[in-house]
Amino acid sequence: MSSHNRQTRLGLAALLLTTCLGASGLAQAADEAQPKGKIEARSELFAKDHADQFSSWKGTSESKERTDALADDPQMVVLWAGYPFSKDYNKPRGHFYALTDVRETLRTGAPKTAEDGPLPMACWSCKGPDVARVINEKGEDGYFKGMWAKGGPEIVNTIGCADCHDTASKEFKEGKPALHLSRPYADRAMTAIGKPFKEQGRFDQQSQVCGQCHVEYYFSGPTKAVKFPWDKGTTVEQMEDYYDEIGFADWTHALSKTPMLKAQHPEYETWRAGIHGQNNVACVDCHMPKVQNEQNEQGKVYTDHKVGNPFDRFDQTCRNCHTQSKEMLQGIVQQRKDAVTEIKLKVEKQLVHAHFEAKAAWDAGATEAEMKDIQQDIRHAQWRWDFSIASHGVQMHAPEVALRMLGTALDKAADARTKLARLLAAKGISHEIAIPDISSKEKAQAALGMDMKQMNSDKAQFLKTTVPAWDAEAKAAGRLAQ
Ligand code: HEC
Ligand code: HEC
Ligand code: HEC
Ligand code: HEC
Repeated sequence: MSSHNRQTRLGLAALLLTTCLGASGLAQAADEAQPKGKIEARSELFAKDHADQFSSWKGTSESKERTDALADDPQMVVLWAGYPFSKDYNKPRGHFYALTDVRETLRTGAPKTAEDGPLPMACWSCKGPDVARVINEKGEDGYFKGMWAKGGPEIVNTIGCADCHDTASKEFKEGKPALHLSRPYADRAMTAIGKPFKEQGRFDQQSQVCGQCHVEYYFSGPTKAVKFPWDKGTTVEQMEDYYDEIGFADWTHALSKTPMLKAQHPEYETWRAGIHGQNNVACVDCHMPKVQNEQNEQGKVYTDHKVGNPFDRFDQTCRNCHTQSKEMLQGIVQQRKDAVTEIKLKVEKQLVHAHFEAKAAWDAGATEAEMKDIQQDIRHAQWRWDFSIASHGVQMHAPEVALRMLGTALDKAADARTKLARLLAAKGISHEIAIPDISSKEKAQAALGMDMKQMNSDKAQFLKTTVPAWDAEAKAAGRLAQ
């Protein structure tokens, strides 16, 4: 990496600037990038004005493979016992599928009416531009209030133009980016960490639009509104401190009764902590590179909107700054992934034991006072484990951060188990606490007494009846492109 390479990237950016943004118009464009008019959530309506961006955006549909993360690693079923993630958890795929996937996952259940649970409205928040539209129309309280099913006929377009652009602006119409934060809670969080969107330069703004969704968040207050736990900072310890101070728990663990934290997908935070983030190499430098359209005569440069794996476009991504071969860099990332996976599995094994041992302690009559310290260790260990594994691509973005987090998780899990061994001995239990057969997802779910058959058939019914009714209502109200 040399300053020369960095210049290549700046050169490309400058080339684009001349095509779509007056060089001095940066701060000004950002300032104007607040939505004035109605938010248009139907991305298809922008196909005519922005054909290259539209067709590459549609290309995210090519990343269609679904990987069942629980089947790959059934220990996670135990770690999330009592929480919806133990039912179903797939690895991420293309933006095109965000809406389909939130409807189809068992986590959202099978609500029959707008008031049915199990999840709140907030669960739509990173699925598409209708969220911004509804917030614009009804305010944040109006959007967040109520159960997830309430949003069924409203949130009907997947992640699209108005999530990242001020589509009502003149600048956007003219082909300039007019990036903006469409989520007011994200705007507040960026301000809380001293990076107010409007005052940032172009590279920071590019990453912040991704940081509206690819972050850690929780549901706060009576309306269960989305909030990022960043008031003390964005490292794993600072967020842990924040949650401890406000006494927040996502759920109570079904076995150990621990007040647990569930990490969401803190890519923005781990990217910031890693070497590329520190050098302000933006998400889009790797995931949305500038490319040239060979088909059009001018060979116009545009931003490739097919957000996916940067190795698929190596020449336009890594290659802009690095001289090593694709094979070599991919090999390095793979090695780091293997290292992260190795420690991750070790932490899981310790935590699985800790949850079952804690259950045995409760069963033997342990008191809350006796369990308090142990539960705090379990809570912190699992939070750190979850933070590193839920941060997709961490092997690339910040492998050293992931390994350190997993190291501290292992240490805290060891503390919990040492204390548990002593407590169990005091209750007269000196034998090893047996773990049931959790060698597959199905066996682990059965061991926890989860009725998957019922859940699956309720879901099938929901997809056959409720979802088509939502779509019909949305279509009649003009919320879907014809
Ligand atoms: C996930 C966020 C995101 C989504 C969704 C998105 N864009 Fe973009 N778009 C960007 C970013 C980032 C840039 C580059 C900004 C820069 O160069 O500073 C960009 C650039 C653009 C530009 C400026 C010209 C160019 O190619 O750089 C246009 C026009 C555009 N997008 C249109 C669209 C359209 C149309 C859609 C919907 C079909 C869309 N975008 C969806 C993030 C997004
Ligand atoms: C409105 C919320 C939202 C925004 C904004 C957003 N994402 Fe995503 N992203 C998601 C969701 C949700 C998924 C998972 C979709 C699924 O699996 O159904 C996802 C998936 C991804 C994936 C996996 C793609 C694959 O093919 O496996 C990558 C990479 C990604 N996003 C990067 C980005 C980048 C880079 C930006 C900013 C330019 C961005 N995202 C902006 C919500 C968002
Ligand atoms: C220096 C390049 C680079 C930067 C900067 C970068 N990424 Fe990535 N990202 C990658 C690579 C490469 C992968 C795939 C790693 C692999 O193949 O193991 C990846 C993976 C991902 C994934 C997981 C995709 C999946 O299907 O598992 C997500 C989500 C993601 N990145 C989002 C982001 C976001 C959001 C940002 C900015 C906050 C960002 N990335 C910044 C290179 C980058
Ligand atoms: C816009 C420029 C840019 C892009 C694009 C970029 N990098 Fe980097 N990369 C850097 C900078 C800056 C550093 C910091 C080290 C330095 O200054 O040499 C770095 C460091 C690295 C390192 C060594 C640091 C470490 O973690 O050990 C690796 C490996 C790496 N990059 C891989 C990649 C891969 C793989 C891609 C594509 C997915 C990529 N980079 C894309 C600029 C970039």
